[in-house]
Amino acid sequence: MIYLDNAATSFPKPKRVIDAVTRYLKEIGGNPGRAAHASAREASGLVDRTRRLLASLLGNVDPSRIIFTPSTTVALNLAIKGSLKSGDHVLTTSMEHNSVLRPLNGLVKLGVTHSLIPCSSSGELDPADIPPLIQPQTRLIALVHASNVTGNLMPVGEVGKVARERGILLLLDAAQTMGKISIDPEILFVDLLAGPGHKGLLGPMGTGFLYVRPGLELEPLWEGGTGTHSESIKQPETWPERFESGTCNAPGLAGLAEGIAEVQHLGFEAIATNERRLVEILLDGLSQFPGIILYGPEDRRFCTGTLAFNVQELDCAEVAHILDKVYSIAVRSGLHCAPEAHRTIGTFPHGAVRVSVGPYNTEEEMHTFLKAVSEVLEFRCR
Ligand code: ALA
Repeated sequence: MIYLDNAATSFPKPKRVIDAVTRYLKEIGGNPGRAAHASAREASGLVDRTRRLLASLLGNVDPSRIIFTPSTTVALNLAIKGSLKSGDHVLTTSMEHNSVLRPLNGLVKLGVTHSLIPCSSSGELDPADIPPLIQPQTRLIALVHASNVTGNLMPVGEVGKVARERGILLLLDAAQTMGKISIDPEILFVDLLAGPGHKGLLGPMGTGFLYVRPGLELEPLWEGGTGTHSESIKQPETWPERFESGTCNAPGLAGLAEGIAEVQHLGFEAIATNERRLVEILLDGLSQFPGIILYGPEDRRFCTGTLAFNVQELDCAEVAHILDKVYSIAVRSGLHCAPEAHRTIGTFPHGAVRVSVGPYNTEEEMHTFLKAVSEVLEFRCR
C-alpha cells in the first residue's frame, strides 16, 4: 500500500512508538497516579515524560498547563465550552473543521453566537478582514492553523496580535501542524492550543492535548477521580488533574513520547522540506494532466504536505475508490469533515480528492501515484 492519508492519521508509526505501547501493555500495566506501587509509579513517570516533551516542543511552556485528551476534537470542545458563557461572541474562519464549527453551533442554544471570517476561494485568510467583524462581546477567535483540505497555513501571528491588542482569546487548532512546524504559543499570541498525538507527532490514536496559557481560567467539562485530593467531593483546583478525571490512555501516551522523540530526531525542518518536495512533484505532475482541477494557494511555500484536486466530470469518491482498489493507494475523498472549507473553495457538496504526505513517503511513491492518476484519466477519455 502507498499511504497518502497522513492528514487523517500518520502511518506507518515508528517502531519505537509500537515498542513503547507494547512494553507498556506487556510489562508496566499500572494506572498512572492511582497507587504507590512500582507499576503505577512507572506509569506516572511515563505520562509525566510525555507532558514534559510536549511542553518543550511548544517553546518550553509550563507542563502543568498541558491537559491530555483523547483527541484534538475533545481538546477543542474543552477550550470552547470551558471558556465561553452566554452572551459571548466568537469569530472563526470559513476554513474550519467541524470539530470547531459543531461545538460553536451547539452553543447557540446557550446564547453564544459566532461569525465566520470569509476566506478566499484558495482558502486564504486576510487578517485585515477581522477587525470589522469584532463585536464588544467577542471573547474568542478560533483559528485552524492549517487547512485539513488544502493544506494552507493561516497567518496565526498576525491574527494573534489583533486578538491580544483587543483582549480577545486566540484558540489555535493545530491538528494539521503539530510535529510539522515549530509552534511557540507565546510568540504567536496563542492562548489555547489543541493538537493531536496521532498525526504529525507520530503517536497512537486516542492521544491529544489542550495547552492553556498560564493565568487563563477554564471550566472542567467532566469531573471525577484524579488520584489526588480524594478526601474531597470537590474537583481539585490543581492543574492538570482538574481536567483529567478518569484513567488516561497511558499506553498511548507512552507511545506518543516516542513519537515526539522521533520528530525531534528527524527535525521539523527536514520533515517540512521533504513534504514540500513531495507535494511539488505531485503538483508539477497533476498540473500537466488535462482535466485536473487543483485547489488551494498557488504559492505552496506556506502549506503543509496536503493538497486537494478533482478530475473533471469524475466523482471524487470514484477516483479514491479506483486508487484504492486498483493501485492500493490510500487517499481521502469527500468533505473531510470540513463542509465550510469546501464551500469556500467551491467544491461543496461533492468534495475533492485529498492527498496528504508524511515523513516516510518517498519520491518513488509520488511517481507511482501520478502514473495511477494518468491511467485513470486515460481510461476516462476512452
Ligand atoms: N480530521 C481528519 C481528516 O482531515 C480526520 O481527515
